[in-house]
Amino acid sequence: MEIVRTPAGLTAAVEAMRRAGARVAFVPTMGALHAGHLALVAEGLARADAVVASIFVNPRQFGPGEDLARYPRDEAGDAAKLEAAGCTLLYAPDVAAMYPPGFSSFVRVDGLPDVLCGAVRPGHFDGVATVVTKLLAAARADVAIFGEKDWQQLAIVKRMAADLDLGTEIVGAPIVRDSDGLALSSRNLYLAPEDRARALALPRALAEAQGRLRAGGGVAEVLAQGALALATAGFARVDYFELVDGETLATLDAVQPGARLMAAGVVGTTRLIDNLGL
Ligand code: PAF
Repeated sequence: MEIVRTPAGLTAAVEAMRRAGARVAFVPTMGALHAGHLALVAEGLARADAVVASIFVNPRQFGPGEDLARYPRDEAGDAAKLEAAGCTLLYAPDVAAMYPPGFSSFVRVDGLPDVLCGAVRPGHFDGVATVVTKLLAAARADVAIFGEKDWQQLAIVKRMAADLDLGTEIVGAPIVRDSDGLALSSRNLYLAPEDRARALALPRALAEAQGRLRAGGGVAEVLAQGALALATAGFARVDYFELVDGETLATLDAVQPGARLMAAGVVGTTRLIDNLGL
């Protein structure tokens, strides 16, 4: 698997693939790869002839006091996993290649970043929108695959790619879970064993809320029960437990097609997110 480290190198390599007639899928990541990331590569291979992945821990999407410094990094291990999964090319730029001196542009989507995780992590989705725009603009792939675990990120990226005519189709891939139901996340590595056990309350509370809503339960009561279940299980903080429209992220007080249950909270010192369709 070839590794390129500059935007121009990425553009040239993908252009060469497309000139040779290949349809190209792009999988952006921050590394610390797990089976959820490899499922994104598999989704790319199902939709294209070649998959290009990127690894870049983007400083602009971490707030002050967040986990940028301790975010797990293992490029060699990740590269081996990507190659075994069928990736053709890895883009692994350093910070200076992505944000050279004088860099002063930001991409901001209106509205969607102000709610849910964005309300708790101000500026986070501006950092995501900026780096994803740069990645998509340099890759110029046919399709890009993002995990549905970060549903809000996916909604923002879809809006942005359409608004800015980025020319790459944005596709979401289903959440991959451990056998006990916990959604895979690079941040699960931070969880001490007792916190990992507490964390299971998140998928369980979402599944219970889904069942209650499907059985006709009242939305406000079901959401309050969900948030209470997390607090009772020992979450240090519950950021939100909400029912939203999956595309606009507007809060809903009744179930409707496309509705999504969204929850986030902190276990120990680790912030976890999860969501479920209805
Ligand atoms: O989901 C992620 O891993 C990151 O937010 C992304 C999309 C690679 C941008 O840095």
